[in-house]
Amino acid sequence: MPTAFQVTVQPAGWRFSAPSGVSLLTAAQAAGIRLARSCRNGTCRACLCHLRSGQVRYSIDWPGLSADEKAEGCILPCVAQPLSDVVIDAPGATLIPKDPA
Ligand code: FES
Repeated sequence: MPTAFQVTVQPAGWRFSAPSGVSLLTAAQAAGIRLARSCRNGTCRACLCHLRSGQVRYSIDWPGLSADEKAEGCILPCVAQPLSDVVIDAPGATLIPKDPA
């Protein structure tokens, strides 16, 4: 099994590598991409976005998603870890400004 997966953030098309066992939110932040977030523990749903392709697992037993939402492809990136290369639909994503050197 690969130790990292490729994540594509649509509609911007940004790509980054997400190590297995690391949340998509944390991996995005490390890559300089800010996704919507608040609680970071799978309860507030601020980070909710859509999984266009690929598979994720959750680091908690009961992420704050209904069965219908899961069936529709909704995920919570703060507690979702990649199991394959994934494409997510996160139109509110922004690039984190770099500190001036
Ligand atoms: S940041 Fe609260 S559910 Fe993801």
